[in-house]
Amino acid sequence: MDYSTKISERMWNQPDKGELEAERENTFIDDIVQKSHIEKELLANLDGIETAFDGGAGCGRFSILLAKQGIHVTHFDISQPMIDKAKEIAEKEGVLDKLTFVKGALEDLSEYGDRSFDLVMSFDSPISYTYPNQERTIGELVRIAKKRIMISVSSRLGALPYLSNPIQKNQFILDENSKDTWVQWCISSREKMIEGFSFNKDALWKSYENGLLCDVEESKKSYDNGETPWSISYHFMPDELEGILKKNGVKNISLAGPGAYARTIPNEILVKIMRDPSQRKEFLDFCHEYDSNPYVCGRGKDNLFAKGDIE
Ligand SMILES: C[S@@+](CC[C@H](N)C(=O)[O-])C[C@H]1O[C@@H](n2cnc3c(N)ncnc32)[C@H](O)[C@@H]1O
Repeated sequence: MDYSTKISERMWNQPDKGELEAERENTFIDDIVQKSHIEKELLANLDGIETAFDGGAGCGRFSILLAKQGIHVTHFDISQPMIDKAKEIAEKEGVLDKLTFVKGALEDLSEYGDRSFDLVMSFDSPISYTYPNQERTIGELVRIAKKRIMISVSSRLGALPYLSNPIQKNQFILDENSKDTWVQWCISSREKMIEGFSFNKDALWKSYENGLLCDVEESKKSYDNGETPWSISYHFMPDELEGILKKNGVKNISLAGPGAYARTIPNEILVKIMRDPSQRKEFLDFCHEYDSNPYVCGRGKDNLFAKGDIE
Protein backbone atom coordinates (compact mmCIF):
# COMPACT_ATOMS: atom_id res chain seq x y z
CA MET A 1 0.00 0.00 0.00
CA ASP A 2 1.29 3.47 -0.92
CA TYR A 3 2.10 5.92 1.87
CA SER A 4 -0.61 8.31 0.66
CA THR A 5 -3.25 5.58 1.06
CA LYS A 6 -1.99 4.64 4.52
CA ILE A 7 -1.82 8.29 5.58
CA SER A 8 -5.35 9.00 4.29
CA GLU A 9 -6.67 5.87 5.95
CA ARG A 10 -5.29 6.90 9.35
CA MET A 11 -6.26 10.56 8.97
CA TRP A 12 -9.84 10.06 7.75
CA ASN A 13 -10.57 7.22 10.18
CA GLN A 14 -10.14 9.43 13.25
CA PRO A 15 -13.37 8.87 15.18
CA ASP A 16 -14.62 12.49 15.09
CA LYS A 17 -14.10 12.97 11.32
CA GLY A 18 -17.69 12.17 10.29
CA GLU A 19 -19.20 14.59 12.81
CA LEU A 20 -16.80 17.40 11.90
CA GLU A 21 -17.27 17.06 8.14
CA ALA A 22 -21.06 17.05 8.50
CA GLU A 23 -20.86 20.50 10.14
CA ARG A 24 -18.74 22.21 7.48
CA GLU A 25 -21.45 24.40 5.97
CA ASN A 26 -22.41 25.67 9.42
CA THR A 27 -18.88 26.89 10.02
CA PHE A 28 -17.18 28.00 6.77
CA ILE A 29 -18.63 30.10 3.91
CA ASP A 30 -16.25 28.74 1.24
CA ASP A 31 -17.70 25.29 1.94
CA ILE A 32 -21.23 26.66 1.42
CA VAL A 33 -20.18 28.16 -1.94
CA GLN A 34 -18.46 24.98 -3.08
CA LYS A 35 -21.37 22.75 -2.04
CA SER A 36 -23.89 25.02 -3.74
CA HIS A 37 -21.86 24.99 -6.99
CA ILE A 38 -21.58 21.20 -7.09
CA GLU A 39 -25.25 20.72 -6.15
CA LYS A 40 -26.34 23.00 -9.00
CA GLU A 41 -24.14 21.10 -11.46
CA LEU A 42 -25.40 17.71 -10.29
CA LEU A 43 -29.07 18.62 -10.36
CA ALA A 44 -28.74 20.11 -13.86
CA ASN A 45 -27.03 17.01 -15.26
CA LEU A 46 -29.15 14.07 -14.16
CA ASP A 47 -30.84 13.33 -17.49
CA GLY A 48 -30.69 9.57 -18.07
CA ILE A 49 -28.82 8.93 -14.81
CA GLU A 50 -30.14 5.96 -12.80
CA THR A 51 -26.96 4.80 -11.08
CA ALA A 52 -24.01 6.69 -9.65
CA PHE A 53 -20.66 5.99 -7.99
CA ASP A 54 -19.41 8.55 -5.45
CA GLY A 55 -15.69 8.02 -4.80
CA GLY A 56 -14.58 9.45 -1.46
CA ALA A 57 -18.20 10.25 -0.67
CA GLY A 58 -17.57 11.37 2.91
CA CYS A 59 -20.65 11.96 5.02
CA GLY A 60 -22.87 11.91 1.95
CA ARG A 61 -23.23 15.57 0.96
CA PHE A 62 -23.74 14.55 -2.66
CA SER A 63 -24.52 10.82 -2.55
CA ILE A 64 -27.58 11.51 -0.36
CA LEU A 65 -28.63 14.41 -2.61
CA LEU A 66 -28.70 12.02 -5.58
CA ALA A 67 -30.39 9.25 -3.58
CA LYS A 68 -33.16 11.77 -2.83
CA GLN A 69 -33.55 12.16 -6.62
CA GLY A 70 -34.26 8.43 -6.88
CA ILE A 71 -30.77 7.48 -8.12
CA HIS A 72 -29.08 4.37 -6.78
CA VAL A 73 -25.70 5.47 -5.45
CA THR A 74 -22.64 3.45 -4.48
CA HIS A 75 -21.15 5.46 -1.62
CA PHE A 76 -17.45 4.54 -1.57
CA ASP A 77 -14.99 5.85 1.04
CA ILE A 78 -11.80 4.92 2.87
CA SER A 79 -13.23 6.06 6.23
CA GLN A 80 -15.60 4.09 8.44
CA PRO A 81 -16.55 7.14 10.58
CA MET A 82 -17.55 8.96 7.37
CA ILE A 83 -19.61 6.01 6.19
CA ASP A 84 -21.28 5.68 9.60
CA LYS A 85 -22.23 9.36 9.58
CA ALA A 86 -23.53 9.10 6.01
CA LYS A 87 -25.66 6.10 6.99
CA GLU A 88 -27.11 8.02 9.93
CA ILE A 89 -28.01 11.01 7.70
CA ALA A 90 -29.38 8.75 4.92
CA GLU A 91 -31.63 7.00 7.43
CA LYS A 92 -32.98 10.33 8.71
CA GLU A 93 -33.62 11.39 5.11
CA GLY A 94 -35.40 8.09 4.36
CA VAL A 95 -33.09 7.05 1.50
CA LEU A 96 -31.02 4.27 3.06
CA ASP A 97 -32.41 1.79 0.49
CA LYS A 98 -31.03 3.89 -2.38
CA LEU A 99 -27.42 3.68 -1.15
CA THR A 100 -24.81 0.92 -1.16
CA PHE A 101 -21.97 1.68 1.26
CA VAL A 102 -18.51 0.37 0.44
CA LYS A 103 -15.34 0.89 2.46
CA GLY A 104 -12.40 1.04 0.08
CA ALA A 105 -9.59 3.07 -1.44
CA LEU A 106 -9.89 4.77 -4.83
CA GLU A 107 -6.48 3.34 -5.68
CA ASP A 108 -8.19 -0.02 -6.31
CA LEU A 109 -11.41 0.01 -8.31
CA SER A 110 -10.73 -3.40 -9.88
CA GLU A 111 -13.92 -4.90 -8.47
CA TYR A 112 -15.98 -2.64 -10.79
CA GLY A 113 -16.36 -3.49 -14.45
CA ASP A 114 -16.12 -1.05 -17.36
CA ARG A 115 -19.07 1.36 -17.66
CA SER A 116 -20.69 0.13 -14.43
CA PHE A 117 -22.33 3.45 -13.41
CA ASP A 118 -24.22 6.08 -15.42
CA LEU A 119 -22.53 8.83 -13.43
CA VAL A 120 -19.18 8.71 -11.66
CA MET A 121 -18.39 11.53 -9.27
CA SER A 122 -15.72 12.35 -6.69
CA PHE A 123 -15.76 15.71 -4.95
CA ASP A 124 -13.51 17.78 -2.76
CA SER A 125 -10.19 16.13 -3.45
CA PRO A 126 -10.32 12.35 -2.83
CA ILE A 127 -8.55 11.95 -6.22
CA SER A 128 -5.79 14.31 -5.11
CA TYR A 129 -5.25 12.19 -2.00
CA THR A 130 -4.26 9.20 -4.15
CA TYR A 131 -0.90 10.86 -5.04
CA PRO A 132 1.27 9.58 -6.76
CA ASN A 133 -1.51 7.56 -8.43
CA GLN A 134 -3.87 10.45 -9.18
CA GLU A 135 -3.66 10.12 -12.96
CA ARG A 136 -4.34 6.38 -12.90
CA THR A 137 -7.22 6.96 -10.45
CA ILE A 138 -8.86 9.39 -12.89
CA GLY A 139 -8.43 6.79 -15.65
CA GLU A 140 -10.12 4.18 -13.48
CA LEU A 141 -13.00 6.50 -12.60
CA VAL A 142 -13.55 7.20 -16.31
CA ARG A 143 -13.37 3.46 -17.05
CA ILE A 144 -16.26 2.63 -14.70
CA ALA A 145 -18.40 5.55 -15.98
CA LYS A 146 -20.99 5.03 -18.67
CA LYS A 147 -22.44 8.47 -19.39
CA ARG A 148 -20.89 11.26 -17.36
CA ILE A 149 -18.10 12.11 -14.96
CA MET A 150 -17.96 14.99 -12.46
CA ILE A 151 -15.02 15.56 -10.13
CA SER A 152 -13.36 18.21 -8.04
CA VAL A 153 -9.69 17.99 -7.17
CA SER A 154 -7.16 20.13 -5.32
CA SER A 155 -6.27 23.14 -7.43
CA ARG A 156 -2.73 24.43 -7.70
CA LEU A 157 -3.65 27.99 -8.69
CA GLY A 158 -6.34 28.05 -6.01
CA ALA A 159 -4.18 26.67 -3.21
CA LEU A 160 -0.94 28.61 -3.74
CA PRO A 161 -2.38 31.85 -2.29
CA TYR A 162 -2.75 29.99 1.03
CA LEU A 163 1.04 29.81 1.22
CA SER A 164 1.26 33.61 1.24
CA ASN A 165 -1.82 34.05 3.38
CA PRO A 166 -1.80 31.98 6.57
CA ILE A 167 -5.08 33.64 7.65
CA GLN A 168 -6.95 32.89 4.40
CA LYS A 169 -9.45 30.61 6.13
CA ASN A 170 -10.49 33.41 8.54
CA GLN A 171 -12.08 35.19 5.58
CA PHE A 172 -14.69 32.42 5.40
CA ILE A 173 -15.66 31.96 9.06
CA LEU A 174 -19.46 32.11 9.24
CA ASP A 175 -19.91 32.36 13.00
CA GLU A 176 -16.99 33.46 15.09
CA ASN A 177 -18.77 32.20 18.23
CA SER A 178 -18.98 28.68 16.80
CA LYS A 179 -17.71 25.98 19.15
CA ASP A 180 -15.92 24.31 16.23
CA THR A 181 -12.31 23.80 17.30
CA TRP A 182 -10.89 24.77 13.89
CA VAL A 183 -12.87 28.04 13.86
CA GLN A 184 -11.60 28.79 17.35
CA TRP A 185 -8.05 27.88 16.32
CA CYS A 186 -8.21 30.21 13.27
CA ILE A 187 -9.41 33.08 15.48
CA SER A 188 -7.05 32.53 18.40
CA SER A 189 -3.93 31.98 16.23
CA ARG A 190 -4.58 34.84 13.80
CA GLU A 191 -2.05 37.26 15.27
CA LYS A 192 0.52 34.53 15.87
CA MET A 193 0.22 33.36 12.25
CA ILE A 194 0.76 36.90 10.93
CA GLU A 195 3.70 37.46 13.25
CA GLY A 196 5.34 34.16 12.34
CA PHE A 197 4.83 34.62 8.59
CA SER A 198 7.59 35.45 6.17
CA PHE A 199 7.30 35.25 2.40
CA ASN A 200 9.23 32.30 1.00
CA LYS A 201 9.54 32.45 -2.75
CA ASP A 202 11.52 29.19 -2.95
CA ALA A 203 8.86 27.16 -1.13
CA LEU A 204 6.15 28.77 -3.23
CA TRP A 205 8.03 28.13 -6.43
CA LYS A 206 8.62 24.47 -5.52
CA SER A 207 4.91 23.92 -4.90
CA TYR A 208 4.06 25.77 -8.11
CA GLU A 209 6.27 23.31 -9.98
CA ASN A 210 5.49 20.01 -8.27
CA GLY A 211 1.85 20.49 -7.17
CA LEU A 212 2.56 19.48 -3.57
CA LEU A 213 2.11 21.80 -0.61
CA CYS A 214 3.69 19.50 1.94
CA ASP A 215 7.05 17.79 2.18
CA VAL A 216 6.23 14.19 1.24
CA GLU A 217 9.25 12.74 3.06
CA GLU A 218 8.26 14.62 6.25
CA SER A 219 4.70 13.24 5.99
CA LYS A 220 6.04 9.69 5.61
CA LYS A 221 8.36 10.12 8.58
CA SER A 222 5.55 11.52 10.70
CA TYR A 223 3.32 8.56 9.72
CA ASP A 224 6.08 6.09 10.64
CA ASN A 225 6.39 7.83 14.04
CA GLY A 226 2.76 6.97 14.73
CA GLU A 227 1.51 10.52 14.13
CA THR A 228 -1.45 11.53 11.94
CA PRO A 229 -0.23 13.88 9.20
CA TRP A 230 -2.74 15.51 6.82
CA SER A 231 -3.30 13.53 3.58
CA ILE A 232 -0.68 14.16 0.91
CA SER A 233 -2.61 16.08 -1.77
CA TYR A 234 -1.64 16.56 -5.40
CA HIS A 235 -2.75 19.95 -6.77
CA PHE A 236 -3.68 20.01 -10.45
CA MET A 237 -3.33 22.76 -13.02
CA PRO A 238 -6.52 23.26 -15.10
CA ASP A 239 -4.96 22.33 -18.45
CA GLU A 240 -3.34 19.28 -16.87
CA LEU A 241 -6.68 17.99 -15.54
CA GLU A 242 -8.39 18.68 -18.85
CA GLY A 243 -5.59 16.84 -20.67
CA ILE A 244 -5.90 13.74 -18.46
CA LEU A 245 -9.67 13.62 -18.98
CA LYS A 246 -9.25 14.06 -22.75
CA LYS A 247 -6.58 11.37 -22.90
CA ASN A 248 -9.09 9.01 -21.29
CA GLY A 249 -11.70 9.81 -23.95
CA VAL A 250 -13.91 12.23 -21.97
CA LYS A 251 -15.78 14.69 -24.22
CA ASN A 252 -17.46 18.09 -23.74
CA ILE A 253 -15.19 18.88 -20.80
CA SER A 254 -15.78 22.05 -18.81
CA LEU A 255 -13.89 23.32 -15.78
CA ALA A 256 -14.84 25.70 -12.98
CA GLY A 257 -13.32 27.29 -9.90
CA PRO A 258 -15.96 27.25 -7.14
CA GLY A 259 -15.12 30.01 -4.66
CA ALA A 260 -13.34 32.35 -7.10
CA TYR A 261 -15.90 35.16 -6.70
CA ALA A 262 -16.38 34.76 -2.93
CA ARG A 263 -12.64 35.03 -2.49
CA THR A 264 -12.75 38.67 -3.57
CA ILE A 265 -15.13 39.67 -0.74
CA PRO A 266 -14.16 40.40 2.89
CA ASN A 267 -15.51 38.33 5.77
CA GLU A 268 -17.86 40.99 7.19
CA ILE A 269 -19.68 41.34 3.85
CA LEU A 270 -19.80 37.58 3.22
CA VAL A 271 -21.33 37.00 6.68
CA LYS A 272 -23.94 39.72 6.03
CA ILE A 273 -24.92 38.12 2.72
CA MET A 274 -25.10 34.63 4.26
CA ARG A 275 -27.40 35.81 7.08
CA ASP A 276 -30.06 37.15 4.69
CA PRO A 277 -31.75 34.18 2.96
CA SER A 278 -32.71 36.05 -0.23
CA GLN A 279 -29.30 37.72 -0.67
CA ARG A 280 -27.68 34.38 0.10
CA LYS A 281 -29.62 32.58 -2.62
CA GLU A 282 -28.94 35.26 -5.23
CA PHE A 283 -25.28 35.46 -4.25
CA LEU A 284 -24.83 31.69 -4.59
CA ASP A 285 -26.60 31.77 -7.99
CA PHE A 286 -24.24 34.51 -9.17
CA CYS A 287 -21.18 32.72 -7.76
CA HIS A 288 -22.12 29.68 -9.82
CA GLU A 289 -22.20 31.76 -13.02
CA TYR A 290 -18.97 33.66 -12.30
CA ASP A 291 -17.06 30.62 -11.03
CA SER A 292 -18.06 28.67 -14.18
CA ASN A 293 -16.23 31.18 -16.39
CA PRO A 294 -13.21 29.35 -17.83
CA TYR A 295 -11.01 32.36 -17.12
CA VAL A 296 -11.34 31.80 -13.36
CA CYS A 297 -11.27 28.01 -13.29
CA GLY A 298 -8.59 26.97 -10.83
CA ARG A 299 -8.84 30.25 -8.94
CA GLY A 300 -11.53 29.00 -6.58
CA LYS A 301 -10.66 28.27 -3.00
CA ASP A 302 -8.63 25.10 -3.16
CA ASN A 303 -10.75 23.06 -5.55
CA LEU A 304 -10.93 22.69 -9.31
CA PHE A 305 -14.20 21.29 -10.70
CA ALA A 306 -14.49 19.34 -13.97
CA LYS A 307 -17.34 17.64 -15.78
CA GLY A 308 -17.53 15.77 -19.05
CA ASP A 309 -19.39 13.16 -21.05
CA ILE A 310 -18.31 9.62 -21.73
CA GLU A 311 -20.58 9.02 -24.72
C1 LIG B 1 -12.91 16.43 2.02
S1 LIG B 1 -13.77 14.92 2.12
C2 LIG B 1 -14.97 15.08 0.83
C3 LIG B 1 -16.16 14.19 1.02
C4 LIG B 1 -17.27 14.32 -0.02
N1 LIG B 1 -16.82 13.94 -1.35
C5 LIG B 1 -17.84 15.71 -0.01
O1 LIG B 1 -17.56 16.48 -0.94
O2 LIG B 1 -18.53 16.03 0.95
C6 LIG B 1 -12.62 13.75 1.42
C7 LIG B 1 -13.11 12.32 1.53
O3 LIG B 1 -12.24 11.48 0.78
C8 LIG B 1 -12.05 10.29 1.50
N2 LIG B 1 -10.78 9.69 1.03
C9 LIG B 1 -9.53 10.16 1.24
N3 LIG B 1 -8.62 9.40 0.61
C10 LIG B 1 -9.32 8.41 -0.01
C11 LIG B 1 -8.95 7.30 -0.82
N4 LIG B 1 -7.68 7.08 -1.11
N5 LIG B 1 -9.92 6.48 -1.28
C12 LIG B 1 -11.23 6.72 -0.97
N6 LIG B 1 -11.64 7.75 -0.20
C13 LIG B 1 -10.69 8.59 0.26
C14 LIG B 1 -12.05 10.71 2.96
O4 LIG B 1 -12.32 9.66 3.84
C15 LIG B 1 -13.13 11.78 2.94
O5 LIG B 1 -14.39 11.24 3.22
